Order: sequence, then C-alpha cells, then structure tokens
Amino acid sequence: MNIVILKNYDEVSSKASEIVINQLISKPNSVLGLATGSTPIGLYKRLIQANKENKISFKDVKSFNLDEYIGLDIKHPQSYHQFMMDNLFSKVDINLANTHLPQNDVENMNEHAEAYNKLLAKTKIDLQILGIGSNGHIGFNEPGTPFGNETFIVELEEKTRKDNMRFFNSLDEVPKYAITMGIKNIMRSKHILLLASGIEKSDAVYQMIHGEVTENLPASILQLHPHATVILDEKAASKLPL
Ligand code: PGA
Repeated sequence: MNIVILKNYDEVSSKASEIVINQLISKPNSVLGLATGSTPIGLYKRLIQANKENKISFKDVKSFNLDEYIGLDIKHPQSYHQFMMDNLFSKVDINLANTHLPQNDVENMNEHAEAYNKLLAKTKIDLQILGIGSNGHIGFNEPGTPFGNETFIVELEEKTRKDNMRFFNSLDEVPKYAITMGIKNIMRSKHILLLASGIEKSDAVYQMIHGEVTENLPASILQLHPHATVILDEKAASKLPL
C-alpha cells in the first residue's frame, strides 16, 4: 500500500485528480471504477475542470460504478445513477452508453446482480476509486462479507444507513438493501485509489492499514493488493502511528 497523507480534503482531491488525469492521458480508453458518496465529489469537480480545459477526454472511457441502492427510482435525487449524472457524467464528454451502474428494481434484484457481475467479468478495471465507510466497508461490502463475494445483494448495516441519513429526510427513507460489487470484483482492478477525509474515518483507516486482514474490516483486504494507493487527510490519518 502506498500511503499519502495531505493537509485537508482539497489537497486529497487534487492529488487524486492528478492520478486519474495521468491515467487518462496515458490510456485514453481506460476503464474506470467509480464511487459515490461525499468523498469523490472534489475529485470529480477537478476532472470536470480538466475536461473543460481539454487536458483529458472521457470520449473513449468506460466506467463501472461500485454500487446502487435497491428500490430507489434511478431518477431519485439520491440514487447513485442520479449522483453520477449530477456530479460527473452530465458535465464531461463521456458517452453514456459506456457508463455502467447496476440496475436496481426490487423484483429482479438477483438477476441484476448476476448480469452486472457478467459485465464485470468481461472487463478489467484500470483504476478503481474507493471511499471507505466509518465501519470499514468498501463499496457496500459491510463487515463480515466474505472476501470471495462477487456482485451481490447486501442488507445495509444500521451504521451505514445512519451515516447516509444526511442525504435523506429520515432514516426510514434510507434504503435497506443495495447491490454492490463484491470484494473479489474490486480486487481484480489493476490499481486501486482509496480516498478518506475526516476524523470519523480515522478508526477504519487505522484498522485498514495496521489491523489484521479480516472480513470484519473489509478495507483491510487492500493490504494484499499489489497496487493500492491510499490518500488521506490529516484527520483521517490522525490515528496512524507517527
Ligand atoms: P462518504 O462514503 O464518501 O460519503 O463518506 C464513503 C463510503 O461509505 O464508502
């Protein structure tokens, strides 16, 4: 694991954008693994800017998102389909036909997981962007998820639903299920770029880097990845030994 500690969220976002920009310059038809949540928003803003300035193009990029809530209409403001449109896709020159998120209606959720997994099996993600949950999840792989899992339907932990409640009007509105790439899918990526900012991530970050590799802290699996870069701000890194 290559660990970079920077002052604050802005610096984390800038460093992450440098890495993604270099990836797209060296391989314009890269396959990107994309994440949602608060953390990558600053990165996406910088990518939008770089695209505007013609430093990078998404014309030949393919993307696969990590996860999606089950049962939210894809036009719901908090669906990850909508998040990606609002925060990246509608603002860059990406071909929407090359963007992929799991389909998410309740009736066919197992079929959707299988279909998404088949798509992932046919490709190789060059660069996977990740956040980390305060419980150590990556994607929606909650603590206890077997490392061997491929795309599957997950029942979200109460802690995750509470963490995400800030985006909804009440806890009741936060979906209880999601569809997520499994750890096995994530680990197949050539390069993994995990970003974390804020004190509420500091325990999970410590465990990810210095704890044992255990399914109880899903992100700890990244210790075994041959090319993982972790970019932290000082608060997220505050529990790490000096
Ligand atoms: P956040 O979520 O970026 O909104 O903090 C990260 C995650 O849960 O993976």
